[in-house]
Amino acid sequence: MTTAPVDPTSTGPWRTLTQLAENFRPDLRAWFASDPDRTRALTFEAVDLHIDLSKNLITPPVAQSLIGLARAVGLQQRIEAMFTGEHINVTEDRAVLHTALRLPRDAELEVDGQDVVADVHTELDKMYAFADRVRSGEWTGVTGKPVQTVINIGIGGSDLGPVMVYEALKPYGKLGLECRFISNIDPTDLAEKTFGLDPETTLFIVASKTFTTLETLTNARLAKAWLLDQLRERGVVGEGEEAARGAVAQHFVAVSTALDKVSEFGIDTDNTFGFWDWVGGRYSVDSVIGTSIAIFIGPERFAELLGGFHAMDDHFRTTPLERNVPALLGLLNVWYGNFLGARTHAVLPYSQYLHRFPAYLQQLTMESNGKSVRWDGSPVTTATGEVFWGEPGTNGQHAFYQLIHQGTELIPTDFIAFANPTHALRDGESDVHALFLANFFAQTKALAFGKTADEVREEGTPEAIVPARVFPGNRPSTSIMAPALTPAVLGQLIALYEHLTFTQGVVWGIDSFDQWGVELGKQLAKQVAPAVDGDRDALAEQDQSTRSLIEYYLAHRA
Ligand code: F6P
Repeated sequence: MTTAPVDPTSTGPWRTLTQLAENFRPDLRAWFASDPDRTRALTFEAVDLHIDLSKNLITPPVAQSLIGLARAVGLQQRIEAMFTGEHINVTEDRAVLHTALRLPRDAELEVDGQDVVADVHTELDKMYAFADRVRSGEWTGVTGKPVQTVINIGIGGSDLGPVMVYEALKPYGKLGLECRFISNIDPTDLAEKTFGLDPETTLFIVASKTFTTLETLTNARLAKAWLLDQLRERGVVGEGEEAARGAVAQHFVAVSTALDKVSEFGIDTDNTFGFWDWVGGRYSVDSVIGTSIAIFIGPERFAELLGGFHAMDDHFRTTPLERNVPALLGLLNVWYGNFLGARTHAVLPYSQYLHRFPAYLQQLTMESNGKSVRWDGSPVTTATGEVFWGEPGTNGQHAFYQLIHQGTELIPTDFIAFANPTHALRDGESDVHALFLANFFAQTKALAFGKTADEVREEGTPEAIVPARVFPGNRPSTSIMAPALTPAVLGQLIALYEHLTFTQGVVWGIDSFDQWGVELGKQLAKQVAPAVDGDRDALAEQDQSTRSLIEYYLAHRA
């Protein structure tokens, strides 16, 4: 039985933070000038990550109160409850054990009578063996050709994680092997991703935790039809059920917790990799949901990715709150969101390989913490879940940074950068990676320290446009650096965000592991579908706006 949530607003630290926020006049210039030790005191090492919090809007009393708040809401007990498999996902009565997916083989964890570590490694081994067979060419398509393209069909956590990791770890992939990802039920997605593909060298992975998701099952059926049509057109597969079954067995595998449904769909359960209901979709990239990744980068690299996750798990579980980076970052987000009025949070990787990382984080953070009730069903007592967004630098600099620098919104930012480039190119005498990083350093500096009116005037700016050229500064940023974007570092980064999301959820007293808010739209899509198909009675049942929109569609479709 899980404990009742503490109302954070009833705690002493919350009251202190409220008072601190009332009289808060951030002045990063003065804080840095008066404290030469500020950066050292606010820089932390977590495994391979180097995290500088000193350009954040915090003072020692704020930091102490945030840590006090974490203690008052029982963060450490909740961390332990999660790691040991208590059913902290109360609305689904489930343990939350994504951290078990990356436990080493010799670890021990038994939850609800299940030897979790043994089960995890059995499935990993099965996935690794399959990945090796595909990579070596031993696994072939129905005409005996090795696989060249792996298409993952999934959505949400069954897509965003694999696609983000695929993009991030491209340099680690096997030459001659490519992954594509089909997620949207918009038929364009499947049409574009299968365009020009050789069916004989294509392997589909249908990835769905529940194996009930409309988009994924529809796309899987379309993909099956595409495969059979193409193979039959080439005359390499005959007509009839038996021939179809043979082709599907060679070209389709599945990843799911619902093995019975996979088999109903027509995929051989021998070619199915399983996981468990204690893995949330948005926390599942490190399970067999990552099969496409394991094929692409190989088992050894996949194991390094898991090792990175695990190292950050250990840091989160065992490091005192004062130096616990995911906890500190989560608490900082609470400070900005609940006390200083920030409603969004930008993630700005200075790495083109991380271009899907913000999108991945959107599901992780917003599906987890976009809640209005607490884990005991009572209303939340304060604002929750901020909007996460972002794009890689330097592209974002030429698009939306204007608003971060000079707009009226407070937008905390995370900058992520790596000391070593994957591609060390030179432009004449200049090292392009150094130039790239100069932009990252410059942006955090500009955000923090701004430019005063006097400084603008000193540059000879005409008085009339001085105000427009002033940068107020005191715009917070966290800088996260690592030696290089390796599989292990990527695992650490993902786990870092998983745990800061959890920290925020604990402060707010919410269940960060359910997602009931996505259900109504799914139900209504089923209810609306007949009307869209032209059923007049179903159309009459719709509200006037929806009816009118469907009528427009019916009148204009070709
Ligand atoms: O609709 C939301 C959701 O349930 C996500 O939480 C999940 O990642 C996604 O759909 C896909 O679900 P599944 O893996 O079961 O197909």
